[in-house]
Amino acid sequence: MTQHRDEIRFLLNGAEVALRDVQAQDTLLDHLRIAKRLTGTKEGCAEGDCGACTVLVGRLAEGGLVYETVNACIRFMASLDGCHVVTIEHLRGADGGLHLVQQAMVDQHGSQCGFCTPGIVMSLYALWMQSAAPSDEEIGVALQGNLCRCTGYEPIFKAARAAAELGKPEADPLFVERAEVTAALSKMQDSKRVEVGGAILPADVADFAQAMQDYPDATIIAGATDVGLWVTKMMKPIAPAIFTGHLNGLRNVALSDRSLKIGAGASYSEAEAQLVRAFPHLADYWSRIAGWQVRNMGTVGGNIANGSPIGDTPPVLIALGAVLHLRSAKGQRSLPLEDYFIDYGKQDLQAGEFVEAVEIPMPEAGVINAAYKVSKRRDEDITAVAAGISVRVVDGIITQACAAFGGMAATPKRAKLAEAALVGKGFGQASFEAAAEAVARDFSPLSDWRASAEYRSMVAANMFRRFWAEQGAAQEAAQ
Ligand SMILES: Cc1cc2nc3c(=O)[nH]c(=O)nc-3n(C[C@H](O)[C@H](O)[C@H](O)COP(=O)(O)OP(=O)(O)OC[C@H]3O[C@@H](n4cnc5c(N)ncnc54)[C@H](O)[C@@H]3O)c2cc1C
Ligand code: FES
Ligand code: FES
Repeated sequence: MTQHRDEIRFLLNGAEVALRDVQAQDTLLDHLRIAKRLTGTKEGCAEGDCGACTVLVGRLAEGGLVYETVNACIRFMASLDGCHVVTIEHLRGADGGLHLVQQAMVDQHGSQCGFCTPGIVMSLYALWMQSAAPSDEEIGVALQGNLCRCTGYEPIFKAARAAAELGKPEADPLFVERAEVTAALSKMQDSKRVEVGGAILPADVADFAQAMQDYPDATIIAGATDVGLWVTKMMKPIAPAIFTGHLNGLRNVALSDRSLKIGAGASYSEAEAQLVRAFPHLADYWSRIAGWQVRNMGTVGGNIANGSPIGDTPPVLIALGAVLHLRSAKGQRSLPLEDYFIDYGKQDLQAGEFVEAVEIPMPEAGVINAAYKVSKRRDEDITAVAAGISVRVVDGIITQACAAFGGMAATPKRAKLAEAALVGKGFGQASFEAAAEAVARDFSPLSDWRASAEYRSMVAANMFRRFWAEQGAAQEAAQ
């Protein structure tokens, strides 16, 4: 019988905190600003979009202590058990002076009204610790989730470059105190299930399965980048809520000759390196999902489990032939990912079951893949249409085709007529033109404020044309 603990413990800047009086829906931002009066962390959108609330959260991962930027507005307190929360106040020097990242922002005139500034400083601080001389691309990625409406980004980019000149991260307290923080966080971990204020933190993955049996109506919360908004925007009750973000056993990302297996709890950031190693064509696509803070929190498992027709990972994973692994206290089962999506809001998930992992087989010889996302903005925007397209070409003939779309139907869905237009045909422009025409018969998309039905149909057709334009050219160049 698992022993339970009835408090969460974490480090807040330099102090240890133990809390019994915490509810499943309590957010870190409210705790910081209301309970602790740490008002340097700002509230802008309360939905993970603007980055004004950016803080760092350190946690003990397999490889040691890692610090990541997160949005405090959609980060639930219960998920902080065993973590180190670092706010803008912690950057104050021993003499009360500015941190060198803040100094760089002052020197480069990186702040006007200042509302976005603490969040931007926290993102640049995280970047400075990761990369001593960041490229413009790295700076852009670090700032994807930080909105500044008045200064403009040029001075902020200059500040990011200048910080590297002012000092090295090795002398920063977060580096110097690494061993002490690691020891303090390790001491907090007692392998017990935590139950507090309607929040349940299972002891391990087996206990997660047990907790699902104990609380069959519970809300599962991984990165909370969807569920957070149910609370902050819809005021929806979420208790009882089973939190999974602390379960390292659910965060494994394993690459072998046969497959890439991504644990349901692995964040986009954690999965990225191996994913891009196995499927280099996904590097750009992956960086189009949300912004840095949300990718540090949000999981592939959550993106699949929520069943959204506009989630970015299902189309590309279906096209790659991914298999979904489900688990419950009664056992495990697997199914092709495409079969998981039954209808709008309806997935093949039985009571007590949860998503354990998604596994992508390594492509066979002759397989060519691509993934496309079309949205109004390049960064931090929800998809209008997304597609994963995969074909196998043998001796110039397309022998297999899988094209899956998001934003075109009530679920992520394959374009079977377009696929049929490709299979058995030559790998040439005429085949992809036929697929582009056929995809109009595959779907009857909706019009909404993101895109009209006509626009979505045109984009879907053009994705086949783009596939040929890119892959045909690549093939010609290789000959
Ligand atoms: C600012 C912002 C930008 C975003 N941009 C994008 C984007 O560009 N593309 C995109 O696709 N999405 C985007 N999202 C949505 C969200 O980030 C993703 O859907 C994310 O993958 C959800 O993962 P999560 O771990 O945060 O899920 P959570 O919010 O924790 O959970 C989501 C759902 O999955 C369920 N769930 C979680 N884990 C499991 C499990 N193991 N088994 C069963 N059910 C489970 C939860 O109960 C819930 O129903 C964005 C969100 C925000 C706030
Ligand atoms: S307040 Fe805007 S991201 Fe949190
Ligand atoms: S300085 Fe005003 S929003 Fe950035």
